[in-house]
Amino acid sequence: MSEKLCHIDDVDDPGAKGFSLKKGRKERLLFIIKKDGAVYAYENKCPHAGINLEWQEDDFLDPDKDHIVCSVHGALFKIETGDCLGGPCDGNGLTAANIEVDKDGNVLLLA
Ligand code: FES
Repeated sequence: MSEKLCHIDDVDDPGAKGFSLKKGRKERLLFIIKKDGAVYAYENKCPHAGINLEWQEDDFLDPDKDHIVCSVHGALFKIETGDCLGGPCDGNGLTAANIEVDKDGNVLLLA
């Protein structure tokens, strides 16, 4: 089972897009990053304080768009793996979400 998040062309390269998926009273926050044509997805929950990373809609990257950055205390994460690169994440990375891009360019969240 899968759920369409967006089309790959809806995201700049490099760029990011956040999602809030609601099922009943539960909400799941995710974001995707597109870089060099590849797409990566993570739960939108910083391992430092357990809150969402962005301070503005879809703003998950540092100014050079080389890393994912948490806007709260500045933790840096590797785009390709979600690994912590510096700041208060203390070696704890982001949790990846399972996605695929289908032949039509739809970004699908896999169950
Ligand atoms: S909450 Fe993300 S670095 Fe503190």
